[in-house]
Amino acid sequence: MTDHILVERQGAIQIIRINRPDKKNALTRAMYATMSAALAGGDADPAIRVHVFFGVPGAFSSGNDLGDFMIVASGGEGGTEVWDFLMALARVEKPMVSGVDGIAVGIGTTLNLHCDLTFATPPTIFRTPFVDLGLVPEAGSSLLAPQILGRQGAFALLGLGEGLSAERAKVAGLIYEVVEERELETSVLAAAGQIAAKPPQALKIARDLMRGSRDALVERIGQESQHFRERLKSDEARAALTAFMTRKKA
Ligand code: COA
Repeated sequence: MTDHILVERQGAIQIIRINRPDKKNALTRAMYATMSAALAGGDADPAIRVHVFFGVPGAFSSGNDLGDFMIVASGGEGGTEVWDFLMALARVEKPMVSGVDGIAVGIGTTLNLHCDLTFATPPTIFRTPFVDLGLVPEAGSSLLAPQILGRQGAFALLGLGEGLSAERAKVAGLIYEVVEERELETSVLAAAGQIAAKPPQALKIARDLMRGSRDALVERIGQESQHFRERLKSDEARAALTAFMTRKKA
């Protein structure tokens, strides 16, 4: 357990708050593990009806901790925590709502593709610089983003690494609503409260029907992960990661 992820309950709402502001909410293996455990725990608890993700003001998440990536790029152990979390996102049984403010990079963007409703503030920029890092899309985003954004919108996001403002993300169907910073938490919690008040069995069937089979998603996450692991050891990725890790020393 780490206080970089805070898990709390408000009635039937489970709130998972990413809380590592000094690193713009970059996610470490321990943080992924805590989030996976929270999703599993909330799913198993009949008193919980909905999961909510928040970051901190100005940073939802800057993505995977690049130091952790560097360890794998240098031949070290990567662990299963990221994989476990991606599987948890793909298979979670209860609705997920996210509230995003500011930085939403990498998994800070792709996590939202799994959410049922995402609220974001006007300064939020969604960005996935996978290719610039010598990497490939993850979290099923190579499957989900084309479904949501169309092939060219997905290419701009995942291939070019183009930033998508909250307003454009809403028009593109990536998120549900744009709300001012001061209204973010209340808007998200109000939506989560609405979800929690629905008949849970009917809502689960409706959600399952809308999502369809998870098999293709799980298979795609597996394909992406295999490429991702290989790419982490590539010269392209090592150069990009080294550039980030040493940028302030230059
Ligand atoms: N992994 C590890 N550390 C990270 C990080 C990440 N993904 N993102 C930010 N940090 C750290 C920075 O190294 C810095 O640490 P320091 O104060 O010890 O030097 C701290 O968080 C603040 O980041 P900084 O870059 O100074 O903030 P910023 O507001 O100028 O820029 C970002 C924020 C997110 C745009 C920038 O940090 C960035 O590009 N991060 C990498 C994002 C990324 O590529 N993620 C992986 C996607 S697959």
